[in-house]
Amino acid sequence: MRLSSPARLVVLVSGVGSNLQAVIDACRNGRLNASIAAVVSNRREAHGLTRARQAGIPAVYLPRPRHMEPREYDRHLANQVESYRPAWIILAGWMRLLSSVFLDRFQNRVINLHPALPGAFPGTKAIARAYQAFQHGSITRTGVMVHLVPDEGVDCGPVLCQETVQIWPGETLGELEQRIHAVEHRLLVEALSQIISSS
Ligand code: GRF
Repeated sequence: MRLSSPARLVVLVSGVGSNLQAVIDACRNGRLNASIAAVVSNRREAHGLTRARQAGIPAVYLPRPRHMEPREYDRHLANQVESYRPAWIILAGWMRLLSSVFLDRFQNRVINLHPALPGAFPGTKAIARAYQAFQHGSITRTGVMVHLVPDEGVDCGPVLCQETVQIWPGETLGELEQRIHAVEHRLLVEALSQIISSS
């Protein structure tokens, strides 16, 4: 029997949404005591929006109008997100930096997923950059981390979960990407489950 009511989540996506799907599935099969109140995307074509609609979750397309300053957009985004009263905000492939205007509204409640180990390859194309570093002989492994986003630092903050992924000689970038995504899907749910049950 569950003692607490499901934690409300808002998930921010910009693309494919495979991590969103992992969270949707985990909410459905009871692995996560949570419900997704809304999915928000800054990109109209984000497949994550379709996944949300298919799951009956409000899907909000919220682009930044050209005339709107980035910080003004962050205020607008924060207002929208807040209207869903989330306990946690999940950045699952959200490809836009958030300023303190957004983050200060949700202190210790924004969670990000990064396809590399803490401190490694911040920013975009982390898997490709790790793969390249492996080819140059400078690393043998990479990984995945899930962390809180306290401030404007890119892909850094208190780590909730992390897992190392060994890079195999001869594997293609596509194969490494697939293995890392599989770890992400599992680790994100694990991190959410831990933080929800301890809060
Ligand atoms: C993931 O690798 C995530 O770590 C990165 O962007 C990718 C998003 O994938 N920030 P998806 O949209 O969840 O499939």
